[in-house]
Amino acid sequence: MHISHTPLVIGNWKMNPKSVKLAIRLFQDIQKSATRVRGVDIGIAPPAIYLSELARLAKSKRLKLLAQDVFWEDIGARTGEMSAPMLKSTGVAQVIIGHSERRALGETDEQVNHKVLATLKAGLGVVVCVGEKKRDPQGNYLTHVEKQVRAALAGVSKAKLGNVVIAYEPIWAIGTGDTATSHDAHEMKLFIQKVLSDIFGRAVLSKMRILYGGSVNAKNAEELLREGNVDGFLVGGASLRAHEFATIIKIAGAY
Ligand code: PGA
Repeated sequence: MHISHTPLVIGNWKMNPKSVKLAIRLFQDIQKSATRVRGVDIGIAPPAIYLSELARLAKSKRLKLLAQDVFWEDIGARTGEMSAPMLKSTGVAQVIIGHSERRALGETDEQVNHKVLATLKAGLGVVVCVGEKKRDPQGNYLTHVEKQVRAALAGVSKAKLGNVVIAYEPIWAIGTGDTATSHDAHEMKLFIQKVLSDIFGRAVLSKMRILYGGSVNAKNAEELLREGNVDGFLVGGASLRAHEFATIIKIAGAY
């Protein structure tokens, strides 16, 4: 079954840029060129400290703000944390959860699941990141990704799945310039769809987008969409260059 979704392109700024002034400039540059493109949903995930400021500048409903992380309780004695209702109150629409850079700091599958449930409960969308460290000929990487998907979505009701996006981000491809081939991306998309339909039934596939992330740029985006058949991208490094990010958005919009 071929299902077509409106593509989604998200810029994950990670811990960039260095000041609120630079963040405003980057956001406005992206907003100027990217929001004119039709047929694509756009997301920007800046450092949380810039969210309120950028929310005030957001002019287009098609450009959504995302947070890069969240805590699973709503309020209380949790120094340094931010809750989903707080993020929502600043204008955030979705939260990236389980990025490999957070998992590398000790975030577990169980914590990812708590964060997913709390964020959906607050009425926000989630972008759940999954991906293997390396590929082995025995195919253990598939088992690893399946475990991450199942753990992240444990207890999520079918009714909420329209608010769930999966981002497949192989760790070996993040920030390395070593992009997955379109074949790798396609294989994994089909595999994740199989896992999702095993858990929730085939009908949910029409509600759920599966993105690819890992060294996406203006040169490889078209082939990843066409041959890899992914539903969009989570873009790191290239999303910090307004012109290149806008080009990726245009490619996705034209697709
Ligand atoms: P990259 O990062 O595009 O710089 O590889 C992607 C990500 O980590 O989301």
